Amino acid sequence: MSVRLNINIDHVATVRQARRAPEPSVIGAAMACEQAGADGITVHLRGDRRHIQDNDIRLLRDSVTTYLNLEMAATEEMLDIARQARPDAVTLVAERPNEITTEGGLDVKSNKDAVSKAVDALRETGMLASLFIDPDPAQIEVAHQVGAQQVELCTAAYAEAMLGARGLHGEGAVRANQELRRLREAAELAAQYGLLVAAGHGLTYRNVGGVAAIEQIVEFNIGHNIVARAIFVGLENAVKEMRAAIASKKLA
Ligand code: PXP
Repeated sequence: MSVRLNINIDHVATVRQARRAPEPSVIGAAMACEQAGADGITVHLRGDRRHIQDNDIRLLRDSVTTYLNLEMAATEEMLDIARQARPDAVTLVAERPNEITTEGGLDVKSNKDAVSKAVDALRETGMLASLFIDPDPAQIEVAHQVGAQQVELCTAAYAEAMLGARGLHGEGAVRANQELRRLREAAELAAQYGLLVAAGHGLTYRNVGGVAAIEQIVEFNIGHNIVARAIFVGLENAVKEMRAAIASKKLA
């Protein structure tokens, strides 16, 4: 089975919100991604609405024909929005007020009751419940206990380690290899529990191949690096290049 690629288009909205202008169109971006062969569209509706807006979710639900994955905090406000919009999947994430981007996975272990209720609410309305967690066996076990159908493993620590490494064999590669091993072991454990395994955060054309070699991973959610590349080569080419980087299963 080939791995699915959902494009996170939050940063198309970031450019639009910089001027509170109508452009660039988030819907247009979603359509271009789908045309280029993306398997789905991912957006994060943050509490502070810094990029994606409520109306984007409504319009995306009407226009995305592949798969819509809504990332959000496990709050009542967000659960209401999800119940109305009915994305195909909801990924519950941790959200801290002043963070630049999501900092690490959701601590499912310490918030078991709240996460469990949110998972039940999502599953009752037919949405796939995914939890964005660190590649930590304890978190995976609780994700299974609360009835999540999928975990998305946070690749931020791997991505950061790769910044200081020259590939997986060269200088500075020890930490990158450790992080990759954590991801591999977490993916194996999650799959043993019957969970679908996704991965994302900080993945780039250069580093994604190492993670794509983990066979249990069935879905990637990638945003910033693709939107950044799109400035130079256009969104369709940027999506196609990421697909090729994933298919290569090797570092670029
Ligand atoms: N997955 C999750 C759960 C995220 O929160 C994000 C960032 O919004 C991504 C994937 C995409 O990360 P990046 O933009 O670094 O590719």
